[in-house]
Amino acid sequence: MRSFLFVPGDQPDKLAKALSSAADVLILDLEDSVNPLNKEAARRSALDLLQNRDAVPDPPLLYVRINGLDTSLADGDLDVVMTGVPDGVVLPKARGGNDIALLSSRIAVREALHNIPESSTPIIAIATESAAAIFGLGTYMDSSPRLAGLAWGVEDLSADTGAQTCRVEGEWTGPAELARGLCLFGAAAAGADAIDCVYADFRDLDGLKRECETAARDGFTGKLAIHPDQAPVINEAFTPSEEAVTRAERVVEAFSLFGDAGVTSLDGQMLDRPHLKAAERLLARARRWRPQAPLDEVQS
Ligand code: COA
Ligand code: MG
Repeated sequence: MRSFLFVPGDQPDKLAKALSSAADVLILDLEDSVNPLNKEAARRSALDLLQNRDAVPDPPLLYVRINGLDTSLADGDLDVVMTGVPDGVVLPKARGGNDIALLSSRIAVREALHNIPESSTPIIAIATESAAAIFGLGTYMDSSPRLAGLAWGVEDLSADTGAQTCRVEGEWTGPAELARGLCLFGAAAAGADAIDCVYADFRDLDGLKRECETAARDGFTGKLAIHPDQAPVINEAFTPSEEAVTRAERVVEAFSLFGDAGVTSLDGQMLDRPHLKAAERLLARARRWRPQAPLDEVQS
Protein backbone atom coordinates (compact mmCIF):
# COMPACT_ATOMS: atom_id res chain seq x y z
CA MET A 1 0.00 0.00 0.00
CA ARG A 2 1.45 3.30 -1.12
CA SER A 3 -0.97 6.16 -0.39
CA PHE A 4 -3.05 6.44 2.79
CA LEU A 5 -5.58 9.30 2.62
CA PHE A 6 -7.00 10.66 5.88
CA VAL A 7 -10.66 11.62 5.70
CA PRO A 8 -12.30 13.33 8.70
CA GLY A 9 -15.05 10.98 9.89
CA ASP A 10 -17.50 13.76 10.65
CA GLN A 11 -17.48 15.12 7.08
CA PRO A 12 -19.75 12.87 5.01
CA ASP A 13 -19.13 14.87 1.81
CA LYS A 14 -15.40 14.21 1.99
CA LEU A 15 -16.00 10.58 2.91
CA ALA A 16 -18.13 10.05 -0.19
CA LYS A 17 -15.71 11.93 -2.40
CA ALA A 18 -12.68 10.04 -1.10
CA LEU A 19 -14.14 6.73 -2.25
CA SER A 20 -13.30 7.76 -5.83
CA SER A 21 -9.81 9.07 -5.03
CA ALA A 22 -6.65 7.41 -6.32
CA ALA A 23 -5.51 6.47 -2.79
CA ASP A 24 -4.73 2.82 -2.13
CA VAL A 25 -6.16 3.19 1.38
CA LEU A 26 -8.58 5.62 3.00
CA ILE A 27 -8.13 6.22 6.70
CA LEU A 28 -11.58 7.09 8.01
CA ASP A 29 -10.61 9.26 10.94
CA LEU A 30 -12.42 9.15 14.28
CA GLU A 31 -9.54 10.81 16.14
CA ASP A 32 -7.96 14.24 15.92
CA SER A 33 -9.56 15.62 12.75
CA VAL A 34 -13.00 15.10 14.32
CA ASN A 35 -14.68 17.73 16.47
CA PRO A 36 -15.00 16.20 19.98
CA LEU A 37 -18.74 16.89 19.85
CA ASN A 38 -19.07 14.84 16.67
CA LYS A 39 -17.41 11.61 17.78
CA GLU A 40 -20.59 9.53 17.68
CA ALA A 41 -21.66 11.00 14.33
CA ALA A 42 -18.19 10.20 12.92
CA ARG A 43 -18.50 6.54 13.97
CA ARG A 44 -21.86 6.32 12.19
CA SER A 45 -20.59 8.03 9.02
CA ALA A 46 -17.57 5.73 8.91
CA LEU A 47 -19.82 2.70 9.32
CA ASP A 48 -22.11 4.00 6.59
CA LEU A 49 -19.18 4.24 4.19
CA LEU A 50 -17.93 0.77 5.13
CA GLN A 51 -21.36 -0.63 4.41
CA ASN A 52 -21.63 1.19 1.08
CA ARG A 53 -18.08 0.81 -0.19
CA ASP A 54 -19.29 -1.07 -3.26
CA ALA A 55 -20.92 2.13 -4.55
CA VAL A 56 -17.84 2.58 -6.76
CA PRO A 57 -15.97 -0.05 -8.75
CA ASP A 58 -12.62 -1.08 -7.28
CA PRO A 59 -12.83 1.03 -4.08
CA PRO A 60 -9.74 1.76 -1.99
CA LEU A 61 -9.11 -0.28 1.14
CA LEU A 62 -10.96 1.25 4.09
CA TYR A 63 -9.07 1.51 7.37
CA VAL A 64 -10.47 3.29 10.43
CA ARG A 65 -8.35 5.40 12.77
CA ILE A 66 -9.87 4.84 16.18
CA ASN A 67 -9.16 7.03 19.19
CA GLY A 68 -6.12 6.18 21.32
CA LEU A 69 -6.15 3.35 23.84
CA ASP A 70 -5.60 5.93 26.59
CA THR A 71 -9.00 7.48 25.87
CA SER A 72 -12.46 6.26 26.86
CA LEU A 73 -13.46 6.21 23.18
CA ALA A 74 -11.46 3.36 21.66
CA ASP A 75 -13.76 0.49 22.66
CA GLY A 76 -16.88 2.36 21.55
CA ASP A 77 -15.19 3.09 18.20
CA LEU A 78 -14.43 -0.61 17.71
CA ASP A 79 -17.95 -1.62 18.78
CA VAL A 80 -19.41 0.43 15.95
CA VAL A 81 -16.91 0.16 13.11
CA MET A 82 -16.07 -3.53 13.43
CA THR A 83 -19.67 -4.32 12.46
CA GLY A 84 -18.78 -2.83 9.06
CA VAL A 85 -15.74 -5.13 8.66
CA PRO A 86 -13.01 -2.52 8.00
CA ASP A 87 -9.98 -3.58 5.99
CA GLY A 88 -7.78 -2.52 8.89
CA VAL A 89 -7.49 -0.37 12.01
CA VAL A 90 -5.09 2.53 12.53
CA LEU A 91 -3.96 3.07 16.11
CA PRO A 92 -2.88 6.63 17.00
CA LYS A 93 -0.64 7.49 19.98
CA ALA A 94 0.80 3.98 20.01
CA ARG A 95 3.43 3.56 22.71
CA GLY A 96 4.92 0.22 21.68
CA GLY A 97 4.28 -3.46 21.05
CA ASN A 98 2.14 -3.88 24.18
CA ASP A 99 -0.44 -1.51 22.72
CA ILE A 100 -0.59 -3.60 19.54
CA ALA A 101 -1.08 -6.80 21.57
CA LEU A 102 -3.81 -5.09 23.58
CA LEU A 103 -5.61 -3.74 20.52
CA SER A 104 -5.23 -7.08 18.80
CA SER A 105 -7.10 -8.86 21.60
CA ARG A 106 -9.86 -6.24 21.51
CA ILE A 107 -10.22 -6.66 17.74
CA ALA A 108 -10.21 -10.46 18.10
CA VAL A 109 -13.27 -10.28 20.36
CA ARG A 110 -15.18 -8.25 17.75
CA GLU A 111 -14.06 -10.53 14.92
CA ALA A 112 -15.52 -13.50 16.79
CA LEU A 113 -18.71 -11.59 17.57
CA HIS A 114 -19.35 -10.56 13.96
CA ASN A 115 -18.21 -13.73 12.18
CA ILE A 116 -15.21 -11.97 10.70
CA PRO A 117 -12.38 -14.41 9.88
CA GLU A 118 -9.96 -14.63 12.81
CA SER A 119 -6.91 -12.34 12.58
CA SER A 120 -8.07 -10.84 9.27
CA THR A 121 -8.01 -7.23 10.50
CA PRO A 122 -4.52 -5.72 10.25
CA ILE A 123 -3.24 -2.85 12.39
CA ILE A 124 -1.17 0.15 11.38
CA ALA A 125 0.29 2.12 14.28
CA ILE A 126 1.17 5.79 14.34
CA ALA A 127 4.23 5.26 16.40
CA THR A 128 6.04 8.55 17.09
CA GLU A 129 3.41 10.80 18.64
CA SER A 130 5.04 11.28 22.04
CA ALA A 131 8.51 11.29 23.53
CA ALA A 132 7.70 8.03 25.33
CA ALA A 133 6.62 6.45 22.03
CA ILE A 134 10.07 7.06 20.58
CA PHE A 135 11.50 4.75 23.22
CA GLY A 136 8.93 2.10 22.29
CA LEU A 137 9.94 1.91 18.62
CA GLY A 138 12.10 -1.16 19.22
CA THR A 139 9.30 -3.13 20.90
CA TYR A 140 7.00 -3.87 17.97
CA MET A 141 8.63 -7.11 16.85
CA ASP A 142 6.50 -10.15 17.78
CA SER A 143 3.74 -7.89 19.16
CA SER A 144 1.07 -9.33 16.87
CA PRO A 145 0.85 -10.89 13.40
CA ARG A 146 -1.73 -8.20 12.72
CA LEU A 147 0.89 -5.45 12.68
CA ALA A 148 1.12 -4.32 9.05
CA GLY A 149 2.81 -0.96 9.29
CA LEU A 150 4.38 1.74 11.43
CA ALA A 151 3.85 5.37 10.47
CA TRP A 152 5.59 8.39 11.85
CA GLY A 153 4.43 11.97 12.37
CA VAL A 154 5.72 15.14 13.96
CA GLU A 155 2.78 17.29 15.00
CA ASP A 156 1.90 15.50 18.23
CA LEU A 157 5.55 14.76 18.95
CA SER A 158 6.44 18.44 18.69
CA ALA A 159 3.55 19.31 20.99
CA ASP A 160 4.90 16.79 23.50
CA THR A 161 8.50 17.95 23.41
CA GLY A 162 7.80 21.66 23.01
CA ALA A 163 9.63 21.93 19.70
CA GLN A 164 8.98 25.28 18.00
CA THR A 165 9.32 23.77 14.56
CA CYS A 166 10.27 20.46 13.01
CA ARG A 167 11.52 21.85 9.68
CA VAL A 168 14.11 24.50 8.91
CA GLU A 169 14.41 25.62 5.29
CA GLY A 170 12.56 22.51 4.19
CA GLU A 171 14.83 20.09 6.06
CA TRP A 172 13.77 18.08 9.11
CA THR A 173 15.27 19.18 12.41
CA GLY A 174 17.49 16.69 14.27
CA PRO A 175 14.78 15.37 16.62
CA ALA A 176 12.31 14.90 13.72
CA GLU A 177 14.96 13.13 11.64
CA LEU A 178 15.66 10.82 14.59
CA ALA A 179 11.96 9.90 14.93
CA ARG A 180 11.83 9.23 11.19
CA GLY A 181 14.87 6.96 11.24
CA LEU A 182 13.79 5.04 14.33
CA CYS A 183 10.35 4.46 12.83
CA LEU A 184 12.00 3.02 9.72
CA PHE A 185 14.21 0.70 11.78
CA GLY A 186 11.38 -0.27 14.14
CA ALA A 187 9.17 -1.20 11.20
CA ALA A 188 11.87 -3.24 9.47
CA ALA A 189 12.71 -5.03 12.72
CA ALA A 190 9.04 -5.92 13.16
CA GLY A 191 8.63 -7.05 9.55
CA ALA A 192 6.11 -4.25 8.97
CA ASP A 193 5.88 -1.54 6.31
CA ALA A 194 7.39 1.84 7.14
CA ILE A 195 4.99 4.64 6.25
CA ASP A 196 6.17 8.23 5.85
CA CYS A 197 4.49 11.19 7.57
CA VAL A 198 1.98 13.61 6.02
CA TYR A 199 3.18 16.48 3.83
CA ALA A 200 1.06 19.28 5.24
CA ASP A 201 1.58 21.82 2.41
CA PHE A 202 -1.02 20.10 0.24
CA ARG A 203 -0.81 22.61 -2.65
CA ASP A 204 2.94 22.00 -3.10
CA LEU A 205 2.94 18.81 -5.17
CA ASP A 206 6.57 19.29 -6.29
CA GLY A 207 7.72 19.39 -2.67
CA LEU A 208 5.59 16.33 -1.95
CA LYS A 209 7.18 14.48 -4.86
CA ARG A 210 10.68 15.25 -3.60
CA GLU A 211 9.82 14.09 -0.09
CA CYS A 212 8.26 10.87 -1.45
CA GLU A 213 11.35 10.12 -3.51
CA THR A 214 13.60 10.57 -0.49
CA ALA A 215 11.36 8.33 1.61
CA ALA A 216 11.21 5.62 -1.06
CA ARG A 217 15.00 5.82 -1.40
CA ASP A 218 15.40 5.21 2.34
CA GLY A 219 13.04 2.22 2.55
CA PHE A 220 9.59 3.64 3.28
CA THR A 221 6.96 1.90 1.16
CA GLY A 222 4.17 4.46 1.40
CA LYS A 223 3.09 7.83 2.72
CA LEU A 224 0.19 9.34 4.62
CA ALA A 225 -1.88 11.93 2.73
CA ILE A 226 -4.38 14.60 3.73
CA HIS A 227 -5.69 15.71 0.33
CA PRO A 228 -6.89 13.65 -2.66
CA ASP A 229 -4.49 15.52 -4.99
CA GLN A 230 -1.58 13.99 -3.08
CA ALA A 231 -2.51 10.36 -3.81
CA PRO A 232 -1.37 10.10 -7.48
CA VAL A 233 1.97 11.76 -6.64
CA ILE A 234 2.56 9.31 -3.78
CA ASN A 235 1.52 6.30 -5.87
CA GLU A 236 3.90 7.23 -8.64
CA ALA A 237 6.85 7.76 -6.30
CA PHE A 238 6.38 4.48 -4.42
CA THR A 239 5.88 2.37 -7.55
CA PRO A 240 9.24 0.97 -8.64
CA SER A 241 10.33 2.67 -11.88
CA GLU A 242 10.85 0.73 -15.10
CA GLU A 243 14.57 1.42 -14.78
CA ALA A 244 14.68 0.04 -11.23
CA VAL A 245 12.73 -3.05 -12.28
CA THR A 246 15.11 -3.73 -15.18
CA ARG A 247 18.11 -3.35 -12.91
CA ALA A 248 16.57 -5.69 -10.28
CA GLU A 249 15.79 -8.29 -12.94
CA ARG A 250 19.42 -8.18 -14.05
CA VAL A 251 20.63 -8.65 -10.45
CA VAL A 252 18.40 -11.71 -10.01
CA GLU A 253 19.55 -13.05 -13.35
CA ALA A 254 23.21 -12.54 -12.42
CA PHE A 255 22.73 -14.70 -9.32
CA SER A 256 20.73 -17.36 -11.17
CA LEU A 257 23.55 -17.70 -13.70
CA PHE A 258 25.98 -18.47 -10.87
CA GLY A 259 23.82 -21.04 -9.08
CA ASP A 260 24.14 -20.68 -5.32
CA ALA A 261 27.11 -18.33 -5.39
CA GLY A 262 27.16 -15.89 -2.48
CA VAL A 263 28.82 -13.24 -4.56
CA THR A 264 28.86 -12.24 -8.23
CA SER A 265 29.21 -9.07 -10.29
CA LEU A 266 27.25 -6.87 -12.66
CA ASP A 267 28.63 -4.00 -14.76
CA GLY A 268 31.87 -4.07 -12.80
CA GLN A 269 30.11 -3.85 -9.39
CA MET A 270 30.31 -6.54 -6.73
CA LEU A 271 26.93 -8.09 -5.83
CA ASP A 272 26.35 -10.19 -2.74
CA ARG A 273 23.31 -11.58 -0.94
CA PRO A 274 21.93 -8.25 0.36
CA HIS A 275 21.75 -7.01 -3.25
CA LEU A 276 19.75 -10.10 -4.22
CA LYS A 277 17.41 -9.64 -1.26
CA ALA A 278 16.84 -5.98 -2.16
CA ALA A 279 16.24 -6.84 -5.83
CA GLU A 280 13.70 -9.53 -4.94
CA ARG A 281 11.92 -7.15 -2.61
CA LEU A 282 11.70 -4.48 -5.29
CA LEU A 283 10.36 -6.98 -7.82
CA ALA A 284 7.71 -8.17 -5.37
CA ARG A 285 6.55 -4.56 -4.97
CA ALA A 286 6.68 -4.03 -8.73
CA ARG A 287 4.50 -7.11 -9.28
CA ARG A 288 1.96 -5.58 -6.89
CA TRP A 289 1.92 -2.09 -8.39
CA ARG A 290 3.02 -2.58 -11.99
CA PRO A 291 0.94 -5.59 -13.03
CA GLN A 292 1.63 -4.71 -16.66
CA ALA A 293 5.39 -5.14 -16.16
CA PRO A 294 6.90 -8.19 -17.89
CA LEU A 295 8.09 -9.85 -14.70
CA ASP A 296 6.96 -13.44 -15.22
CA GLU A 297 10.35 -14.70 -16.16
CA VAL A 298 11.95 -13.50 -12.93
CA GLN A 299 9.38 -14.99 -10.57
CA SER A 300 10.85 -18.49 -10.33
N1 COA B 1 -10.69 13.53 1.73
C1 COA B 1 -11.69 13.67 0.82
N2 COA B 1 -11.96 14.80 0.15
C2 COA B 1 -11.18 15.84 0.42
C3 COA B 1 -10.12 15.79 1.33
C4 COA B 1 -9.88 14.57 2.01
N3 COA B 1 -8.91 14.43 2.90
N4 COA B 1 -9.49 16.98 1.35
C5 COA B 1 -10.13 17.77 0.49
N5 COA B 1 -11.16 17.10 -0.07
C6 COA B 1 -12.11 17.59 -1.08
C7 COA B 1 -12.76 18.89 -0.62
O1 COA B 1 -13.92 18.60 0.14
C8 COA B 1 -13.09 19.54 -1.94
O2 COA B 1 -14.26 18.93 -2.45
P1 COA B 1 -15.26 19.79 -3.40
O3 COA B 1 -14.46 20.14 -4.62
O4 COA B 1 -16.36 18.82 -3.69
O5 COA B 1 -15.67 20.98 -2.60
C9 COA B 1 -11.92 19.13 -2.83
O6 COA B 1 -11.38 17.94 -2.23
C10 COA B 1 -10.86 20.17 -2.93
O7 COA B 1 -10.47 20.52 -1.62
P2 COA B 1 -9.67 21.86 -1.35
O8 COA B 1 -10.58 23.04 -1.52
O9 COA B 1 -8.45 21.84 -2.18
O10 COA B 1 -9.22 21.70 0.15
P3 COA B 1 -10.06 22.13 1.44
O11 COA B 1 -9.66 23.53 1.79
O12 COA B 1 -11.50 21.84 1.26
O13 COA B 1 -9.52 21.12 2.56
C11 COA B 1 -8.13 20.28 4.26
C12 COA B 1 -8.21 21.21 3.05
C13 COA B 1 -6.70 20.21 4.74
C14 COA B 1 -9.01 20.85 5.40
C15 COA B 1 -8.63 18.89 3.85
O14 COA B 1 -7.82 18.45 2.81
C16 COA B 1 -8.73 17.85 4.95
O15 COA B 1 -9.68 17.84 5.72
N6 COA B 1 -7.75 16.92 5.02
C17 COA B 1 -7.75 15.85 5.96
C18 COA B 1 -7.16 16.32 7.28
C19 COA B 1 -7.03 15.20 8.27
O16 COA B 1 -7.73 14.21 8.23
N7 COA B 1 -6.08 15.33 9.21
C20 COA B 1 -5.84 14.32 10.18
C21 COA B 1 -4.60 13.56 9.92
S1 COA B 1 -3.14 14.52 9.89
MG1 MG C 1 -1.73 12.76 15.49
